[in-house]
Amino acid sequence: MSYKVALIGAGGITVSHLEALSLMDELQGVAIADISQERAEAAGAQYGLTAYTDYRLMIEREKPDIAVVTLPHFLHKEATLFAAERGCHVMLEKPMALNAAECDEIIEAVGRAGVRLMVGHTQHYIEQNRTAKAIIEEGRLGRLVMINDVRHVPYYRDTRPAWFFEKAKAGGGIFMNLGSHSIDKIQWLTGSRVAQVKAEVSHYGTKGDIEGSGIAWLRTESGITATISQSGYTVVPRNETELIFTGGMLKLLTGQSLWISEDGQYVEVPVKSEEPSFVLQFRDLLRYIEEGVEPSSSMTYSRSVVAAVEAMYRSSETGAEQRL
Ligand SMILES: NC(=O)c1ccc[n+]([C@@H]2O[C@H](COP(=O)([O-])OP(=O)(O)OC[C@H]3O[C@@H](n4cnc5c(N)ncnc54)[C@H](O)[C@@H]3O)[C@@H](O)[C@H]2O)c1
Repeated sequence: MSYKVALIGAGGITVSHLEALSLMDELQGVAIADISQERAEAAGAQYGLTAYTDYRLMIEREKPDIAVVTLPHFLHKEATLFAAERGCHVMLEKPMALNAAECDEIIEAVGRAGVRLMVGHTQHYIEQNRTAKAIIEEGRLGRLVMINDVRHVPYYRDTRPAWFFEKAKAGGGIFMNLGSHSIDKIQWLTGSRVAQVKAEVSHYGTKGDIEGSGIAWLRTESGITATISQSGYTVVPRNETELIFTGGMLKLLTGQSLWISEDGQYVEVPVKSEEPSFVLQFRDLLRYIEEGVEPSSSMTYSRSVVAAVEAMYRSSETGAEQRL
């Protein structure tokens, strides 16, 4: 069976979805919509898709089986509801929506429409992360005790689209955008959701009204504690997740390498090479559509990521630990 796919949004991340589609016989990209006609047409010309500037018109005309939503966060809900109500399955970019209340509206609408939706939590499909998860589950390092996740990026770079700096459009700053990846990584690697959070964010950025840095402490339902430290100023970039076990350590540089220590020295772990992450992600959506196998980034899981980020903001505002 081949599924017709239409893309809503032709911005930065869309190329990863388009490249994946071009590698999959089961999926046929038919159309793309963006309010920037130039962007829609450029992607359309490169990948052989009909370009639209109005995603509603595109969905009505093309009647795709699957809609891929890669819009700014404040538009995730409206585009997803529109597509689902017209019978499309949805691949929705992370984070699921601006807040947990919007996630609930999506969950309700998708259920009512009888379609399938998964959120593109890419962390589940990146090869170093997958190898790390296999080592955790194998139990060779003993009990997983705690995790330190550190991410520094030049968040205020000139090339970042302006909406990322507006809380009303992005839902928050570095914690909503990249902290959601960290929460996801911690939850998925541990197989357990965040239960308690204490966090403090700071606003020293040069643009907008979002936080540009923050520190969080959290505990999962299974009792594993973790820290997340992120900053977006004039940094030396870093993306490192350190996992401490009773019998060793893992150092996970997502997208780059994985290191293991069982005797006080790190050695690099050969990483199992698989299909590109965005292809694996689409395969999970197809399995959900065809066999009803719920993906690891199910709707309730993806809601839990947004709820954890919201709890971090609440903790920062109130100074109090939050329970989920
Ligand atoms: N999985 C990942 O690793 C990853 C990486 C980057 C971004 N993302 C996520 O992908 C999403 C998009 O991020 P991005 O970096 O591609 O942003 P972007 O700003 O580059 O792209 C968004 C696009 O949406 C278009 N748009 C805005 N309003 C529209 C409307 N009403 N109708 C049609 N098009 C409209 C914009 O013109 C723009 O081209 C976000 O949810 C982001 O968090 C995920």
